[in-house]
Amino acid sequence: MKEEHKQEYKQKYEQAKQDGVKFWPDIIYKDLLVSFGLFILLVGLVTFVGIHPEAKADPSDTSYIPRPEWYFLFLFEFLKFVPGKIEWVGTTLIPALAVLALLALPFLDKNHLRHWKNRLTGISIMGVVVLGMVGLTVRSVITTPEQAEGSAANTIQDQMVLGQEIYSVYCVECHGPDGEGGIIAGVEGLEGVDLKSISSKDEMYTRSDETLENIAAFGQQDLGMPPYGLAYGGELKKTELESVVTFMRYTWDDRVELPEDASSAGAIPEIKEFEVPSYEIHISRIVQRYCISCHRPEKENNNYLMQTYQEMLTTGDNQGNNLIAGDLNSYMLLTNKGISILDPVSGEEIIQQMPPTKLMKDEYIHLFEIWVLNGMPETAAEAEALTAAGQEE
Ligand code: HEC
Ligand code: HEC
Repeated sequence: MKEEHKQEYKQKYEQAKQDGVKFWPDIIYKDLLVSFGLFILLVGLVTFVGIHPEAKADPSDTSYIPRPEWYFLFLFEFLKFVPGKIEWVGTTLIPALAVLALLALPFLDKNHLRHWKNRLTGISIMGVVVLGMVGLTVRSVITTPEQAEGSAANTIQDQMVLGQEIYSVYCVECHGPDGEGGIIAGVEGLEGVDLKSISSKDEMYTRSDETLENIAAFGQQDLGMPPYGLAYGGELKKTELESVVTFMRYTWDDRVELPEDASSAGAIPEIKEFEVPSYEIHISRIVQRYCISCHRPEKENNNYLMQTYQEMLTTGDNQGNNLIAGDLNSYMLLTNKGISILDPVSGEEIIQQMPPTKLMKDEYIHLFEIWVLNGMPETAAEAEALTAAGQEE
């Protein structure tokens, strides 16, 4: 530094010292003011915008995609470029060096000029660093896959619906739609095995919710039941297992009563005389309980899917014959009654009774018939219109 510069600064310094902005109380006062402003801002945000907590942490949930807070995303993204073996370089060494460089800056850079044009080197270096951080953050946001939709059901009603659905898909093929057990048909490796009921008083009175959940999570592998918990190689999250247990408990245990507002969840309402049932209210729920475990993709079912109204009408190897409006000889109605369908040419059985293990209650078989006879209405409104029209006649 040149002598005249030194003098100049010394003068300025003396001057400033005399006018004096003191750390205490001047600077502290300003700091407090700003802190207070930020505090009010935070309180405002929390009150009026709120925070959206994620679902409760679930260690068995491997579908969860963990990410750091946004201000650390650049570091997180940077780590992707560092090979696993030398991870410490990315997590510790480079950040530490960066902080040290900042600390050392006042000693390294003694340029006394303040205008940015006089500090091109410093500004360029910092510019590159900041751009890099922004770039990495953006890249991280873009490459983060969408968080899987949390299927957490919160009310008993939601749990019942979710639990019923999961039970139908995962458990019915062995335990039967009502947990009644019996001889297993059509399940590889367990063909002909006789399962005891899991819905009996014996079972319900002696097993706690926790035990049931554990059985479903671990399976009973020595007896042939596969594990369903994510942590044990299955597909179900803890919240989903809980829903299945809620469904089992409220449906089969005669000691517990479903709360009033939840009691209609997933229930199949009875129809009155001359009432026309609909897919929406009646058939879909019966199908959900008795057919979906097999009639969904990747199961053996003659390519017949039953997850939606459209699928029921348009899939299947014998598509044109399964459901014919007004026809009591529709294949589905016959198989529901235990009559198997024979190939008209070879005479071989092409469709066995449905469901293969045990027929549904007469009441449900009858519901299917009235539904087909009335042209298979999809919505409740269509069914109501048909009912009304029928009564006018
Ligand atoms: C592939 C066939 C199969 C599937 C699918 C299956 N289980 Fe099982 N489960 C079994 C077998 C076999 C046993 C042992 C049965 C026995 O001891 O009678 C069993 C036992 C059980 C038991 C204990 C019975 C007892 O008293 O020891 C429960 C509870 C149970 N399963 C619940 C479920 C639930 C809930 C699901 C669906 C998430 C399910 N199971 C899916 C085959 C299956
Ligand atoms: C345990 C598994 C299972 C359940 C549960 C089940 N099905 Fe099936 N379904 C099959 C299989 C397997 C076939 C293929 C034909 C066969 O093997 O008999 C089939 C075929 C059919 C077909 C003929 C499809 C075609 O186009 O050839 C109809 C209709 C049918 N099922 C209706 C039902 C109905 C209705 C229910 C519920 C009330 C039901 N199934 C429940 C396994 C099942």
